Amino acid sequence: MIDQSILVLDEGTTSTRAMLFGQDGAMRGVAQAELVQHYPRSGWVEHDAGEIWDKTLACARDMVEQAGGADRIAAIGITNQRETVVAWDKARGESLARAIVWQDRRTAEFCTTLKEAGHEDALRKKTGLLLDPYFSGTKMRWLLDNDDGVAEAARSGRLALGTVESWLVWKLTGGNTHITDASNASRTLLLALDGASWDEELCGLMGVPHSALPAVVDCAGELGMTHPDLFGAAIPICGMAGDQQAATIGQGCLSPGETKATYGTGAFVLGNTGSRMPHSQHRMLGTVLHQLDGKRHYAIEGAVFVAGSLIKYLRDTLGLIESAEQTEELARSVLDNGGVVIVPALSGLGAPHWRPEARGIISGLGFDTGRGHIARAALEAMANQTRDLATAFAADGAAWTSLKIDGGMAANNWMAQDIADLLDLPVIRPDFVETTALGAAMLASVGCGWNASLEDAAAAMIGMTQVFEPAMEDAVRKERIARWDAALAEV
Ligand code: G3P
Repeated sequence: MIDQSILVLDEGTTSTRAMLFGQDGAMRGVAQAELVQHYPRSGWVEHDAGEIWDKTLACARDMVEQAGGADRIAAIGITNQRETVVAWDKARGESLARAIVWQDRRTAEFCTTLKEAGHEDALRKKTGLLLDPYFSGTKMRWLLDNDDGVAEAARSGRLALGTVESWLVWKLTGGNTHITDASNASRTLLLALDGASWDEELCGLMGVPHSALPAVVDCAGELGMTHPDLFGAAIPICGMAGDQQAATIGQGCLSPGETKATYGTGAFVLGNTGSRMPHSQHRMLGTVLHQLDGKRHYAIEGAVFVAGSLIKYLRDTLGLIESAEQTEELARSVLDNGGVVIVPALSGLGAPHWRPEARGIISGLGFDTGRGHIARAALEAMANQTRDLATAFAADGAAWTSLKIDGGMAANNWMAQDIADLLDLPVIRPDFVETTALGAAMLASVGCGWNASLEDAAAAMIGMTQVFEPAMEDAVRKERIARWDAALAEV
């Protein structure tokens, strides 16, 4: 029998990656390409969907070649930045406008109009989401209202709308398959948490034509076949999930109560609620964790918009640091934050505050403030934001007893310890922090028959962990929290 791998396409906000995984969950190879971020106006964030596809394909081809050809790939698993909307022409297979990224705030006014018309409560009950520009539905509506090409394609029945995984599946299958998985679909404001397909009433409210939307499918199974010309032979697409849901699976949070926090571009905490639909009373989100054989598992989610993107901003825009890794050494170089607090509301505030108009601040600057203090305050902002979510989860009756962390930033030991200290909880970090990709590989392994269930996949594929125990004095913790709350009140 030939040795096969699973090929994961992990299409994130700042980069796209292709990775190979073996049956034991070991990563066998990775190819990565950065994505250009377009900021055409204040609060707007766009991607070029053509670039996403070209770079995804190039990385995927690298990995297929490294594996030894398409017959060495058992299945493809896809995971993606969620909520980002792509509009394309079904006839030409090309995108019609720049993709509107999840961080984009341009539909804030439309959200306010809907809120003022009294729609938020019903929407929240049905979809688990809130009226915030974060979600896809209002972005789709914006494209229909403001882009002539999109409007014309809608009139002539050629319009396809979807999130990034739908776009990738369309391109991978040569335009043969227009699907989204239930975890991604649950981020659009167009799907009821318990609805098998798009909700007519919600599509009507958002003004999104049902005919342009993909079919809602399971997260594992034979979901599509790649066009044979792409990799030399067709490869089945067998797993698909939004990146935060995939990370929850990759952390093995498969039972109710198990919770993870991923520190990528943003920070996203998801707590498994099993087959029980979550209904937060404290402005957390309810979301589909996965759908297998038509059955859904759900999660309660706290979405923080800025995590790694703050470090990227310090590096690329302000030039304060040379590399992300340097923040650890800088944070250790000072005794404390020197009174500096950063509230990283660079694209508004997400959970639990939901204030799209908020903007970031750095407070407490003095002539004695150095780069070390700022780097430390930037890392502390991660624990501070996570603690706000912990409080909201607890108020919803879903208190954490420990927290599993992952994502690129979680490799920072100082930050991992700080989260444990501020939450006063053990923080568990897997040795392999790319749990998003691992979760997509686990789904694909179930979809292609390598494993019979996610539990089997977890046993076979998830590796060792390290625990950070809390060690902060109560008084220090209290003061940190008080300063953070005071700074938050200023944004
Ligand atoms: O909801 C947005 C999220 O999916 C983005 O993920 O990994 O790019 O921070 P990431």
